Amino acid sequence: MEEQIVGGQWQRRHVLTLSDFTDLEYEMAIQTAASFREVLTRRNRKVPALQGKVVANLFFEPSTRTRNSFELASKRLSADTVNFSPGHSSLSKGETILDTARTFWAMGTDLMIIRHRQAGVPQAIAREMDRMSQGKVGILNAGDGQHAHPTQALLDLFALCTHLNSADPHPKLLAGKKILIVGDILHSRVARSNIWSLKAAGADLHLVGPPTLLPKTFATYGVPLHWQLDDALPGTDFIMTLRLQQERMEGHLLPSLREYHQQYGMTRDRLQRCHPNVKILHPGPVNRGVELSSDLMEDAALSLIEQQVTSGVAVRMALLYLMGGGRLPD
Ligand code: CP
Repeated sequence: MEEQIVGGQWQRRHVLTLSDFTDLEYEMAIQTAASFREVLTRRNRKVPALQGKVVANLFFEPSTRTRNSFELASKRLSADTVNFSPGHSSLSKGETILDTARTFWAMGTDLMIIRHRQAGVPQAIAREMDRMSQGKVGILNAGDGQHAHPTQALLDLFALCTHLNSADPHPKLLAGKKILIVGDILHSRVARSNIWSLKAAGADLHLVGPPTLLPKTFATYGVPLHWQLDDALPGTDFIMTLRLQQERMEGHLLPSLREYHQQYGMTRDRLQRCHPNVKILHPGPVNRGVELSSDLMEDAALSLIEQQVTSGVAVRMALLYLMGGGRLPD
């Protein structure tokens, strides 16, 4: 794999997957996010880092967290931000997705953030932009089908590292920490991206779910698989629960949501079988009472869910800043 960072300068034009991220890139993303987290605590939370740049949010699939945190991140960096709504666009008149991207390029867009329900759309747009713009437009994958959600995994990494050492967050703080990813792994782009980042950080990563949602093929990632949650709990430091993606399920993959919660839902009883300092994460949106009991979600002593959302702005500022041509802030 070609080195992506030369002398502290970010070289990667597009962030489409974490499968080829280097340790140095993880380090750089986390450290830059830490700088921006500090900026976000100031009275004036805006910096002129991307003044004059145009950032386009092209979300062809619904989103609350990702879309709005990207919008806020680009505004905090003083970029001009354009939001695309497919329902009010010329897609309804038959325009293609690539023609939509070409239209935003022709209007001077520097960075495009793409979410689509089909895997591969951000990659196709990146290829087209490379062809048209000679590498001047950067593409960020904000979630494509079941394939990848790199910025979610980076914000999860940042939330975990800052939890362990707020003053000096580094990916390697996770080395040896036991982390379970629990639930609908099959349909989860969040799980697939987190597998790359958490393995790169050296975490003791385990996947847990019912056999219909955690097929044996996931063993190719080189991490242990568990079909019984209770067997995997002892010694766990962090549990990342995943949303049941019923909109992606074909056929009857689960007997009922009630039974799923009984077997795989996080409860206080189950947390007592983990490490005493165990914390819960969830990328959202949450099906309350299914993946975890509602009271756990709001228990600040046990849940890092709010920190995940807060981390999203700093991490997305970091990526926009690095891809927009910046060096590490002072
Ligand atoms: N975690 C996540 O991607 O949430 P949204 O769908 O709300 O963006």
